[in-house]
Amino acid sequence: MKAVVFGAGKYGKALKRGLEKYCGVDVLAICDNDTEKWDKEIDGIQIISPDRLLQLSFDKIFISLMFGEEFLEAEKQLVELGIPKEKLVIMKTDHIYQDAFMELDPVRKKWMKSFAEYTREMGLTGNVAECGVFQGETAMFINKYWPDRVLYLCDTFEGFDRNDVVYENMNFSEFKKGTFGFGSFQGEKSEILIKYVKARMLYPEKTIICQGYFPESVKRINDQFCFVNLDMDLYQPQIEGLRFFWDKMEKGGVILLHDYFHPDLPGVKAAVSDFEKEINMKLPKVPIGDECSIAVIKL
Ligand SMILES: C[S@@+](CC[C@H](N)C(=O)[O-])C[C@H]1O[C@@H](n2cnc3c(N)ncnc32)[C@H](O)[C@@H]1O
Repeated sequence: MKAVVFGAGKYGKALKRGLEKYCGVDVLAICDNDTEKWDKEIDGIQIISPDRLLQLSFDKIFISLMFGEEFLEAEKQLVELGIPKEKLVIMKTDHIYQDAFMELDPVRKKWMKSFAEYTREMGLTGNVAECGVFQGETAMFINKYWPDRVLYLCDTFEGFDRNDVVYENMNFSEFKKGTFGFGSFQGEKSEILIKYVKARMLYPEKTIICQGYFPESVKRINDQFCFVNLDMDLYQPQIEGLRFFWDKMEKGGVILLHDYFHPDLPGVKAAVSDFEKEINMKLPKVPIGDECSIAVIKL
């Protein structure tokens, strides 16, 4: 298949590489609206302006943009330009190409794949969860690697909660409110985001969407877990995640805390440290080699 990637940023670059490496797609060009990028190259592939798309013969355009408003606008722009809608692949909707996303965070994904195999070998029977889902980039791999488990997907689907950000700014970082789609998916758009997330799953029937402010959103969950990915970035939701899941983890299960080593998100490490004080024990934990996450093991 011959294709074009729309969006020449970090995300588009990873997507281009993933499409070639894992999906056998022949990427002819990368398209971007930024005039400064035109005629530059990524891995020898030229970055072109949108109007040059009409001169190319391709099967699909993969829209690689990160945030909701952006990919909806790109879809509109390309249709107005005369590209048939069936040629557009908004990555959020299409699980056929999900392996292309291996390139984004490959170490963590490979670690999860191995850990999933290990949980089966060890006879762990618990379900799985992700708190902080965003557009489902990691969730779709959790669903793929644990096809036989229920996957709880917890997010506001409207970005960070104001209270969490205010607390974060007072205590830990100047984390910007707008990051990770804050405001992008409010109201009806959060429904679009949930639709996209579900459409990316190989086994959507195994997923349960828990929309809302965490931990309120999970109050009624009474289950046992072998794997939980806590990826809500900020102190408040991360410590609530530890409080909620710790007693629900089965022996040998893991809570993976993303951003533990992230220099701009000190709240994550502080949440672990404060939780250790609360339960009066040091959590058994080990880095997973992605220079970002730590695995907390229930013994
Ligand atoms: C870094 S993103 C998650 C990225 C995702 N795990 C991935 O791999 O693409 C952080 C997410 O946490 C969610 N989040 C942060 N605080 C939350 C809270 N208190 N309740 C629910 N969701 C929250 C945000 O809405 C955002 O989607």
